[in-house]
Amino acid sequence: MDRNRRASRRTWLKAATLAAAGVMTRAFAADAPLETRRIPKSGEAIPVVGLGTWQVFDVAGNATGLAEARDALARFVALGGRVVDSSPMYGSSEAVLGDLAASLGVQDRLWVATKVWTTGREAGIRQMEDSMAKLRVARLDLMQVHNLVGADRHLATLADWKKAGRVRYVGVTHYHAGAYADVERYVAKGDLDFLQINYSLAEREAAKRLLPLAAETRTAVLVNRPFAEGALFSRVKGRPLPPWAAEIGCTSWAQLFLKWILGDPAVTCAIPGTRNARHVEDNLGAGRGPMPDATMRKRIEAHLDGL
Ligand SMILES: NC(=O)c1ccc[n+]([C@@H]2O[C@H](COP(=O)([O-])OP(=O)(O)OC[C@H]3O[C@@H](n4cnc5c(N)ncnc54)[C@H](OP(=O)(O)O)[C@@H]3O)[C@@H](O)[C@H]2O)c1
Repeated sequence: MDRNRRASRRTWLKAATLAAAGVMTRAFAADAPLETRRIPKSGEAIPVVGLGTWQVFDVAGNATGLAEARDALARFVALGGRVVDSSPMYGSSEAVLGDLAASLGVQDRLWVATKVWTTGREAGIRQMEDSMAKLRVARLDLMQVHNLVGADRHLATLADWKKAGRVRYVGVTHYHAGAYADVERYVAKGDLDFLQINYSLAEREAAKRLLPLAAETRTAVLVNRPFAEGALFSRVKGRPLPPWAAEIGCTSWAQLFLKWILGDPAVTCAIPGTRNARHVEDNLGAGRGPMPDATMRKRIEAHLDGL
C-alpha cells in the first residue's frame, strides 16, 4: 500500500469511526480526498476516477448541452477530479473541453488525455497538433493511439514527441475483446506508459490476460466503458442497492460498478462518460472510502449475475 492509499485508508477509518458514533450521516463526505494511484513508470499519482467525453461533450452549438458540460466540468474539478479523456473521433468534444476549461480557468488542474485516430505519419502529426490547439494545451499529459489505428507509425512519432517534451505519456486504446490479442502485442513490449481498455461488470474479459500483463509490464490502465456505455444501469433498473454495498461506502449503483473496477489493483483510473454534474459527483464518490477486496468483488459479481 503506497502513501496515498495509506492516507486514504486513514481518512476512511476516521470517517467510519465518526459514522459509527453517529457524528456523520454520510460516511464519505464529498470533500474527503479522492484516492490516487501511481503511474508505474513515473510514480506520479492521479485520481482513480476521471471523466470521459465521448458523445457527452460533443455539444458545440448546443447551448443547453454546453451549459450542462460546463457545470459537469466545474463540479468535476471542484471535487478533485483531474483526468479527462477525449479523441478527435469524438466530434467537437476536444474543442468543447478546451474552451470550457479555459473559460472556467481550470486548465492547470486538469490532466489531459486524448488520442490519435488516422493513418500515416504526417496525418498523425497534423491531427495531434490540431488536438493540442483545440484542447488549448502546449503539452499533453497523455497521447494514445485510438483503437491501434496506425499504431506503429504513431508510436514512433510519439517516442520523439516524448523526448521533446510535447507529450508526457504514451499509450494505446481499444474498446472490445476482439482486439485484445493485438493489444497484448503492444503491451507485452513493455514500453507503453498507458493502456486504455474496456472493463466492467458487463465486460470482464480484460481481467483474464490483459490486466495481469499491464501489471507485469508496469503499464498504467485507464478503464473506458466502465458502465458498458450505460448498459449496466438497465440491468439494475428498479432494483435496490444491496445493503452490504454500504460496507464499502457505496450509495449508488454507479459507485458499486466503479468500485468493482477499482478493486482490481492493475487499474489506475476509470473514466466514466457524462455531462451530468450529479452523475459526476456520484462517480467521484467511488474514488473515496474503502475499495472492495477479492471476496467483496466476487460478491458483487454474484449479485449482479443473479439478477
Ligand atoms: N478508446 C476507446 O475505444 C473508447 C471507447 C469508448 C469510450 N472511450 C472513453 O471512455 C469513456 C467512457 O465510456 P462511455 O462513455 O462509452 O461509457 P460509460 O462511461 O460506460 O457509460 C456512459 C453512460 O453512463 C451514464 N452514466 C454516467 N455516470 C452515471 C451515473 N452516475 N448514474 C447513472 N448513469 C450514469 C451516462 O449517462 P448520462 O450522460 O446521463 O450521465 C452514459 O449514458 C468515453 O467517454 C471515452 O472518453 C474510449
